[in-house]
Amino acid sequence: MTVETTSAAELDAKDPLASLRGRFSLPGSVIYLDGNSLGALPVGLAERLDRVIRHEWGNRLIRSWNEANWYELPLRVGDRIAPLLGVGAGEVVVGDSTSVSLFRVLAAAAQLRPDRQVVVTERGNFPTDLYILDGLRQLMPHLEVRFWNESEPLVNSLRGAAVLMLTHVDYRTGRIRDMRSLSAAAHEAGALTVWDLSHSTGILDLDIDRDGADFAVGCGYKYLNGGPGAPSFTWVAPALVDVASQPLSGWFGHKDPFAFVPGFEAASGIQRFLTGTQQVLSLASLDEALNVWEDVSMHDVRKKSIAQTERFIAGVERECDGRGLALLSPRNSEVRGGQVSFEHEEGYRIMQALISRGVIGDFRAPNVLRFGFSPLYVSFADIDRAVDILAEIMRSESWKQPQFAAKQTVT
Ligand SMILES: Cc1ncc(COP(=O)(O)O)c(C=O)c1O
Repeated sequence: MTVETTSAAELDAKDPLASLRGRFSLPGSVIYLDGNSLGALPVGLAERLDRVIRHEWGNRLIRSWNEANWYELPLRVGDRIAPLLGVGAGEVVVGDSTSVSLFRVLAAAAQLRPDRQVVVTERGNFPTDLYILDGLRQLMPHLEVRFWNESEPLVNSLRGAAVLMLTHVDYRTGRIRDMRSLSAAAHEAGALTVWDLSHSTGILDLDIDRDGADFAVGCGYKYLNGGPGAPSFTWVAPALVDVASQPLSGWFGHKDPFAFVPGFEAASGIQRFLTGTQQVLSLASLDEALNVWEDVSMHDVRKKSIAQTERFIAGVERECDGRGLALLSPRNSEVRGGQVSFEHEEGYRIMQALISRGVIGDFRAPNVLRFGFSPLYVSFADIDRAVDILAEIMRSESWKQPQFAAKQTVT
C-alpha cells in the first residue's frame, strides 16, 4: 500500500508525530496550510509572553536583563535552533529580521574575499535577498552580480566568484538546491557560500556544516512557529567566525558592551553578528515555540512531510484533473521541500475562495497557489479535506464570485 492508497485515518493512527498537534492552538474550523509563511501558535506561548510582560518587565523592570537572562537570549535561543541545522552549541545567534541578518553575513563573506568581485546568485532568489545584495553594492561598488541559470553547470558561473548566495528551498516552487554539491563547487572555485534556510529549517533534516555552508540565515516565524516578526538566526562556520567581520558593528556585538569604551572590538564567536538591543518579547516567543522540537526527530518530520506532499499532489491531480491546475513543485520528492505549489492563471481568486472555506494557503504573484504542510500539526485527514474543498471550488467555479477578486495588501 502506498501513501496514496492507504486511508487518512490509518496514516494518522500510525503517525509518530500525530500527538504534537495538541501542542498548537489552531481554530477547529481551519485547515492550516501556511506554516511555511507563518507557523501556528504554540500552546503555552501566550502564557509565557504574559509572564515576560507582567512579571519580568512589569514587576522586575530593568533587573530582568540579569535576573531573567534577557541578555543571553540570542545565544540561548540559537543553541536550541542549532540541532535543527545539524551544528553545535554556541554557533548560532538569533536577532533581527532575515533581511538584516543576510546583509551582515553577505558583507562578511564578501570582505573575506577582498580580491574578488562577483556574487553569484539566482534571478529567482527570494526578492529580499536580491534587494539586500543591491543595497550592499551601494557600499561595496566593486561587487558585481552574476546570475546562475540552473540549466547550466554552476561551475561556469563561478569563475572569479567571491560568494555564492543561494536560497536552499525555493519559495515559489519548493525545489531543494543540493547544498552539498553546489557548496563544493563554490569552494573548488575559491568562493564562500551564503545559504538562506528560511524554507528549510524545521522541515528538512539539515547538516549544513557537513554540506559546506560557510554562512547561513533563516526565519524564525515559519516552520519554527516563533510568531509574526520572530527574529531570524545566523550561523557562521566555526573556522570563519573569528576572522569574519560584519558592518553593523553595534554595541551588542562588541566584546564588552558595558565597558562603554570608544572603538569597536568584536566579541569572539557568533556574538559578533549581533548589532543592538535584542527583541526580548519576540525572542521569548521563539524560545517558547522551540520547546516542541525537543521531542521531535527531523527524520520523522521529513518522512511525514514527503508522505503529505505526495498525497496532496496525487489528490489534487486526481480530483481536479482538467481544471487548469499545473504542478509547479518538483514531482520528485527528494528535491521537494515542505510545500506544494500549483500554477493557475486565476490562482489569486482560487486561493481566496479556499480561504473563505477555511483552507488557508497563500498566493505568490503572478499565478502560484502555495500550500505548506507543517508535519507538527497538519494531519492526513486535513490533506484529504483540503483536496475535497479545492475540487469542489474548481468544479463549481465558485472562485468566480466577485468578492474573491478583491486584492488584499498581504497575499
Ligand atoms: C527565502 C526567504 N528569505 C527571506 C525572507 C524574508 O525574511 P525577513 O522578512 O525576516 O527579512 C523570506 C520571507 O518569507 C523568505 O521566504
